[in-house]
Amino acid sequence: MKKFTLAIFVMVVLSSVVFAGGTAESGAAAVVANKDKPLVFFNRQPSDPVTGEIDMQVMNWNDKTYYVGFDAAGGGAVQGQLIVDYLASADPAKLDRNGDGVIGYVLCIGDVGHNDSKARTQGIRQALGTWNGSTDPGQAVEGSAVVGGKTMKVVELDSRAMTGTDGTTWNANAATDAMSNWVTRLGDQIDMVISNNDGMAMGCLQASNYPAGVPIFGYDANADAIEAIGQGKLTGTVSQNVDAQATATLQVLRNLLDGLTGNEVVTAGITKADQYGNKISAPVNYVAETKALLAENSGVNSSNWTQYTEGTRDAGIKQISGPSFKVILTIYNSGDNFLSSSYIPALQYYAPLLNIDLTIVQGDGQNESSCLDRFTNLNNFDAYAINMVRTNSGMDYLDRLSY
Ligand code: BGC
Repeated sequence: MKKFTLAIFVMVVLSSVVFAGGTAESGAAAVVANKDKPLVFFNRQPSDPVTGEIDMQVMNWNDKTYYVGFDAAGGGAVQGQLIVDYLASADPAKLDRNGDGVIGYVLCIGDVGHNDSKARTQGIRQALGTWNGSTDPGQAVEGSAVVGGKTMKVVELDSRAMTGTDGTTWNANAATDAMSNWVTRLGDQIDMVISNNDGMAMGCLQASNYPAGVPIFGYDANADAIEAIGQGKLTGTVSQNVDAQATATLQVLRNLLDGLTGNEVVTAGITKADQYGNKISAPVNYVAETKALLAENSGVNSSNWTQYTEGTRDAGIKQISGPSFKVILTIYNSGDNFLSSSYIPALQYYAPLLNIDLTIVQGDGQNESSCLDRFTNLNNFDAYAINMVRTNSGMDYLDRLSY
């Protein structure tokens, strides 16, 4: 009798432990401690906000930790080239509004502590010859560019981080205010406006005194920006291939939850068909030393914008038949233009196809706690995807997973 009672007790304890590790309907087979579950950082790479150095302590949290983003340095170069190409075929007499022989531009930086911002500032300044080795606001030297066959001086008239009054970065309203002030202060010295994202570029165009016809460049290929290119309001943008990134974020988690290991984790469904026959159509490259999967960028302007209109989802990703898993995913700022208008809709499209039951929690873009306070009930999830407010906050999330 005693033996029987003990056996029942052991069985009850064991079964409750099993269910603590995964949800009853999920595919998680056995007990998995949160610290051992798959974890993907995306869009905001764990890194030092000052030096940009990748935080490998965070990236090496467990062997199931990866970063998914896009080729930031390559993207900066694509943006720079897009501008250089535009200048090459522009009419100097029309572009140089005050006829002083100098092409003056203003620059919206975004978030000085964000590697994407840094890479774009560098790519633009290098392409225009205004690079002096720093990605900070105001750090530029006189450059030059070929405009319609004529070599002209290029000057960065001003550059700003674009932090909102509430402390949020990449702030479109701050860009509207800055643009309005620039026009008042600099007038027709401004021949070109460059922004490190579309949200701020669209913000600049909102300024009531925006000088009509002055070329303006953004980054992200958000739907409203693509439409603005079609309407001739925005001159160009860069696609960081949000579909490839959103799918790769989910696919890596899916691969790990399906038990894939080694190289298979970063290739199945990404560079080759996975067991369900899915494969991301666009190129995504793996950088082993930083455990990063990076989508490629492409320039968008009036010649090719129709290829980037809303609704062009990846036909290489179809409904799978594998078990369902639960994932909690944080977004640093519910007000971020790119994440809310491009990334989240893509995640919501692909997650059901990959049988991932996604819980998205969003922060305020200023306080890490706004995300961390919603990063809860962690035992209920099979895997985690994290977009931090600050790129050096990775440890705060890992602490939550360590017990
Ligand atoms: C995007 C920005 C966005 C930022 C958020 C960047 O890659 O280009 O538009 O604000 O990510 O982290």
